Amino acid sequence: MSRIVLGVSGGVAAYKAALLLRALTEAGHDVRVVPTPGALHFVGAATFEALSGNPVTTDVWSDVPEVAHVRIGQTADLVVVAPATADLLARAAAGRADDLLTATLLTAHCPVVFVPAMHTEMWLHPATQDNVATLRRRGSIVLPPAVGRLTGPDSGPGRLPEPGDVAALAAVVLEGGAAALPRDLAGRTVVISAGGTREPLDPVRYLGNRSSGRQGWALARVAAARGAEVVLVAANVEAPTPFGVRVVPVETAEQLRTAVLTEAQAADVVVMSAAVADFRPAGVAATKLKKGSAAEPSAVELVRNPDVLAELVGERRPGQLVIGFAAETGDADGDVLTHARAKLARKGCDLLVVNDVSAGQVFGRPDNAVVVLAADGAVTEVPRGSKDAVAAGIWTAVAARLGGPGEA
Ligand code: CTP
Repeated sequence: MSRIVLGVSGGVAAYKAALLLRALTEAGHDVRVVPTPGALHFVGAATFEALSGNPVTTDVWSDVPEVAHVRIGQTADLVVVAPATADLLARAAAGRADDLLTATLLTAHCPVVFVPAMHTEMWLHPATQDNVATLRRRGSIVLPPAVGRLTGPDSGPGRLPEPGDVAALAAVVLEGGAAALPRDLAGRTVVISAGGTREPLDPVRYLGNRSSGRQGWALARVAAARGAEVVLVAANVEAPTPFGVRVVPVETAEQLRTAVLTEAQAADVVVMSAAVADFRPAGVAATKLKKGSAAEPSAVELVRNPDVLAELVGERRPGQLVIGFAAETGDADGDVLTHARAKLARKGCDLLVVNDVSAGQVFGRPDNAVVVLAADGAVTEVPRGSKDAVAAGIWTAVAARLGGPGEA
């Protein structure tokens, strides 16, 4: 159990802080909510007290003998400020201590994650951007805001990411420290395929697979948090779009191939985490195949799908990295890594992320562990952790191989 301070500043997105609080307490953490006085215009202290089980105060004049503004910051394992308004970012950057939250920020030794939410103009204003740069330079993590609907009918960058995304990233920082979310992908475009393709047999049936898309979602979320432009080619995944990510939905291997090859043209990194069907039915019936009808099949004839990873390798631009995934089991011919090394050589990609699926270890599970093999022989073991923590380990291995300047 970790001690998390959830700072809430005064924006309409403060209502989502209650959902984030729920997600953090359900993950087993002890959460102390520190709202600004402005935040309490949007959500009452009673809501935060009830959901956290801890008292809520906004100023340094309550419980004076307890010296709360020092103790809360000093004893925290993580501070998450969500939403972080333009005003809160400005006060934090200036080192003010005019309420309990800003005072807590000055006494915290632990990683601090700011999750901005404000109107687009306020986010893009040079004053706010300078404050964000200052906070990042000092080692705080400032997530990019989501793009989407704002308070009124307007839309643009400035939306608070969904509570589930923030909770997942908070877990990454708890597991790996602030170093798990550096800005090492800023200025990079990454394309990630995720999920599992469906190959139709008739208008209602398909051949599919058990990929949940969770690892691909985590890769997208973490890449966005690390500053990348992210395109997620998503095969049949029912999950909310991660913040800062453009989703291209696809269904079949052929659709996935077209989308990935198109998007790859502008990409610095392409990650093939999707489970692409190797085969598809040779023909798709135009109408439903009925029992007892003349069209009732006795067998399904299959044909090979194109190997998208191989095509990406063939069309790779100079400096572009192509990352494959492999789900392997050991067998009489060799262990997992022997098979994986052979596959890396066969596929010709730059990195191969290897999952050991010997005992149903990956599909649908919230955690994972992988080994990243590089074409130059380097081996990086990413230890068991949440799929987001594993994603962070994979991106660290990828970022180390990106040539040329990104963007500070
Ligand atoms: N892949 C692809 N196009 C396909 C099939 C797979 O791009 N038609 C990609 C996957 O996204 C993954 C990697 O290739 O990155 C997996 O390699 P693959 O050889 O398909 O794995 P297996 O099916 O496990 O191969 P094998 O049966 O040879 O072990």
